Amino acid sequence: MTSQLYSGLAILTAGVAAIFMTGCGSGSGPSNSSDEAFVDSILSTLSLADKVGEMTQLTLGAIGTGEAYNLSEPQHLDSAKVRKVLVDYRVGSILNCGNHEHSPEKWHEFIEVIQEAASQKSSGIPVLYGVDAIHGPTYTENGVLGPQQIGLGATWNPAVAKTAAKNTAEQVHALGIHWNFSPVLDLARDPRWPRFWETFGEDPYLVSEMGTAMVEGYQYSGVPFAATLKHFFGYGFALSGKDRTPAWIPERQMREYFLPPFAKAVEAGAMSIMVNSGEINGVPVHSSKFLLTEILRGDLGFDGVLVTDWEDIKYLFTRHMVAENYKQATKMAIDAGIDMAMVPLDLDFSNILMELVNEGEISESRLDQSVRRILMMKKKLGLFESNGLPPSLDAYPAKEKFESAAARAALESITLLKNEPKDGATVLPIMGNKKIFVTGPTSNSLNALNGGWTGTWQGTDTAYNTVGRPTMVESMVMRLGAERIEHMDLGMDFSDQEIQRVVRSIQRQRPSHVVLGLGEMPYTEMVGNIEDLELFENQKNLVKAVHATGVKVVAVFIEGRPRTFDEIEPMLDAVVMAYLPGDYGADAIAQVLDGSYNPSGRLPFTWPRHASAHLTYDHKYTEQIHVNFTLEGFNPQYEFGAGLSYSSTAFSGLKTDRAAYGMNDTIIVSVTIANTGERLTNELVAVFSQDKVASITPSVDRLRHFQRVILDAGEETVASARISVAELGFINRENKYVVEPGTFGIRVGNEIVDIEVFQKNK
Ligand code: BGC
Repeated sequence: MTSQLYSGLAILTAGVAAIFMTGCGSGSGPSNSSDEAFVDSILSTLSLADKVGEMTQLTLGAIGTGEAYNLSEPQHLDSAKVRKVLVDYRVGSILNCGNHEHSPEKWHEFIEVIQEAASQKSSGIPVLYGVDAIHGPTYTENGVLGPQQIGLGATWNPAVAKTAAKNTAEQVHALGIHWNFSPVLDLARDPRWPRFWETFGEDPYLVSEMGTAMVEGYQYSGVPFAATLKHFFGYGFALSGKDRTPAWIPERQMREYFLPPFAKAVEAGAMSIMVNSGEINGVPVHSSKFLLTEILRGDLGFDGVLVTDWEDIKYLFTRHMVAENYKQATKMAIDAGIDMAMVPLDLDFSNILMELVNEGEISESRLDQSVRRILMMKKKLGLFESNGLPPSLDAYPAKEKFESAAARAALESITLLKNEPKDGATVLPIMGNKKIFVTGPTSNSLNALNGGWTGTWQGTDTAYNTVGRPTMVESMVMRLGAERIEHMDLGMDFSDQEIQRVVRSIQRQRPSHVVLGLGEMPYTEMVGNIEDLELFENQKNLVKAVHATGVKVVAVFIEGRPRTFDEIEPMLDAVVMAYLPGDYGADAIAQVLDGSYNPSGRLPFTWPRHASAHLTYDHKYTEQIHVNFTLEGFNPQYEFGAGLSYSSTAFSGLKTDRAAYGMNDTIIVSVTIANTGERLTNELVAVFSQDKVASITPSVDRLRHFQRVILDAGEETVASARISVAELGFINRENKYVVEPGTFGIRVGNEIVDIEVFQKNK
């Protein structure tokens, strides 16, 4: 009886799908009434078990042969587990990769088995597969991997982020995967945080612009593909600087800094959001109805799918201790507003959710709200029409299609922070034909260039590196010639003896430059927690020893966060920040070093000078007060937006179209920018505002606009920006957004003009 009824429902579903097939394909955009009718018609046929299944997400490892964290190799899906999870429990979503990347063929095999099983359950609803393809197809063998988000932030070029996302969408969709857990819209306001590099930087406006571009690239570029905004919200602002630890964020600061990037990306149509695994003000975000329903659904108007982070309902009783057991934790999270649980290892959540509904603790109509959202997402992604099956392998796109964009993104990200002449001679670009000595722990590591979420979660296993992609030293050999490059490999834990070997080699070779690959090896999440932001002692000792030889010393930092190094900074003649530029990053670094490319990256964060004295650029006046009572207390190593080129530019004649504005007016800011150097340059024009007096202590600066300007040698142009007065506001004491009349400074570079803002329009 039951099975007959189910098969009838499956036919009904198939019929509805057929009717609406023609309308599908874009994969994104707002839901229309026919989609809603479609979703309602399916929802009305679902049993409680179907609904619970739709709200459950398990990891691929849970249905593989072997143990989830110790799968048998080569990997296969275990047919008994597949049947139990996908048919009996009707689990509606699978994520992740089973501990490492796979070939497109393998992905197709997995997806086909999964969708075939899904088609056998009563509802026949296809599975929604999600993955962390955060800087390209991270879990596909030889996929094209570009810079991590922090590098994209350094391009200050939303078009670059959009193209990167579009290319990821195309490659990942070709595997049969429709859902990406990206972009990260957390703010990089604490460099200790081990996921700093997964963000676009410290400023909410920069993050909003880049984040929105990435959502557009994922969702509106021709293939049905969904973005996930994560991690809602405040994840990167833990007091301890460590992963998944408490943050204190008052409502005013929440609305001022943390919500805007999410609000903008929700407006852009982002289909899903993942929740911050930590706690805010003592409340784990996964248990907060205020944050997940009142703020996210109410204030931000989000109507997509809200997914938990990994195991986070369980953590409510195993780590956060706000629930006594799994059942209480589940009720808490569902009451708070969760749509889907990334369980992700077992079926306990499904059993418990069933029980809670059967006992009347959670209403079935509450489940309907979530299931409707999940079905709508599946509908928008065309899963009912494609049955979630991958496109033909023959159509799998050639990697050549995406390589130039990844290389270009890396090139635009590399940031030259220091370049002082030594003994009257230029240090960078490297001139002449003398030998170059290259060493340092990141100088010969592809893993270091890529960072976490590359081949594996932590990105450290060399077995999964992309075949044929060069390391920094290999690219230097290609660009400068093998005869000019001497290299000495160093691991992360190199000793004083190895430093002495480096010194002896330099003394023998007498190179013109020593290029040191410094920084960090990959990590993410808790694995990347640190006790001290200061650069590793052995790397500082290496710099000291190399500096003492008298050669020109160039440091290339390949790292995900700005490690402090003030002690040795004066010993470096040139400093390059490469971030985590990906598989094409080595050549980008080499092109900056040899001058083939005129560097254009700009820091998307403030680089602290001292590990214990970090301030973001938008700090308050009182934070600038020095112990000697001057206003010189803000003294970072490098400022937000810093970055040099081999050319020189001058800003002049900053002006606004008027001196006074009303609340509804738009300010037209213009500034002359001249390339006073001898090379084509790609300059950043960043416009900041300064509220002189306000009812909430104003920041010394707030970024309001940015654009890139490309200028030939000797060329001059006028760049202009439109900033509406409405954008000059802040969250006041009543937690409301206001623009207060008064004087504002408008700043570009060192130029500042004052304007007056009046309550009434002038
Ligand atoms: C991370 C998320 C990620 C998820 C799925 C979690 O541990 O915090 O950012 O999307 O795993 O892989």
